[in-house]
Amino acid sequence: MSLSVDFLDFRLKNPLMLTEGPLSGTKELIEKASRSAAGLIFTKGIRPKAALSPVPYIRKYQGSLLNADWSCIGFEQWIDVIHSLDIETPLVASIAKNYVTPDQAVEMAEKLVQAGSRAVSFVDYKPVQLSETVKIAKRRLTVPVMVKLPPFLPDLEEVLTSLVSAGVDAIAAMDSVGPVLSINAETGEPLMGSPDGSAYLSGKYILPVALKYIYEIARFVDVPVVGVGGVTGCDSALQMIMAGATGVGMVTTPMLKGLEVFSIVENGLIEYCTEKSIEKLSSIRGLTRKKIRERKTSLSVRAEIDPLLCTSCGACRSVCYSLAINPGVDSYSVRKDTCVGCGLCDSVCPAGAVSFGEW
Ligand SMILES: Cc1cc2nc3c(=O)[nH]c(=O)nc-3n(C[C@H](O)[C@H](O)[C@H](O)COP(=O)(O)O)c2cc1C
Repeated sequence: MSLSVDFLDFRLKNPLMLTEGPLSGTKELIEKASRSAAGLIFTKGIRPKAALSPVPYIRKYQGSLLNADWSCIGFEQWIDVIHSLDIETPLVASIAKNYVTPDQAVEMAEKLVQAGSRAVSFVDYKPVQLSETVKIAKRRLTVPVMVKLPPFLPDLEEVLTSLVSAGVDAIAAMDSVGPVLSINAETGEPLMGSPDGSAYLSGKYILPVALKYIYEIARFVDVPVVGVGGVTGCDSALQMIMAGATGVGMVTTPMLKGLEVFSIVENGLIEYCTEKSIEKLSSIRGLTRKKIRERKTSLSVRAEIDPLLCTSCGACRSVCYSLAINPGVDSYSVRKDTCVGCGLCDSVCPAGAVSFGEW
């Protein structure tokens, strides 16, 4: 079996991508990332001018990250970086479109392409001008052009339609979620150093948001989609692919756990595919769409506890708001006339003793 995927003009060794963030913000860091198992690297967002972020601008937040990171080396320095890079991993130059007009963004892209970039991406928190930018870029550039979208676009289908008709080659989603606020309860001060204390949330808590978003984007467009947001390992990478992603991006997990996470996920994917006799990841891409089409909903399902598996730990009973679970001599049991079939007991049972059947 092979994990390799065709993406833009590249053949990637695997679908895993280091997306825009501090780990791809300088030549040295990009070279370091290129020695990891990541199949593709996006540069940190390239702005027209160098910028610094008021500190602190990155904080661990209960296993996720908060960031108010708009730091960037200068554009001229980026041109030198792209020009001097000699790496095997494909690289996409990511342009922070929100600071410039569509014309200026494409001018930046042209210079990055002249310096050696083989693909560009435009990122904008307010993507009203993104399709205009793509339209101009497709006229003036010979390399593939992609975009990265922020979460929660209310007019998603309209945005996607205009991007596709502008000729976009791939779509990545999503940026970190925000703005959000976190507060030090001792002092009342915001935790982050940005002027109004606001920040953006990334990492494991945003996975379900990203999955739904990728699912909706991938079923609407035919171009490849890169799923980013909350991927922490092989299981969440598989979920992204099943939601419809061709590429799977990460920033928070490699920041917290190191770039080795790319080879851990790569090995996990190989093991999964080998075990399930999957020849190509494309055969499970979008699988969830099929499952959703085929599923039947039920109102009459009730929980059952397998007495042979139940360890009588009581976890199920402590969360059963319908008071349907009682301790017995050797195991807990469910009163089916009281159970409402919500599923919460199953999700907290450490022994896998809960199943569901028609009542
Ligand atoms: C510290 C930090 C800096 C980031 N900087 C950028 C950036 O410059 N441009 C951009 O498009 N996204 C940026 N992102 C967003 C990530 O590329 C990614 O979309 C988001 O963090 C969700 O993925 P994750 O949950 O794997 O981190 C940044 C994220 C973090 C955590």
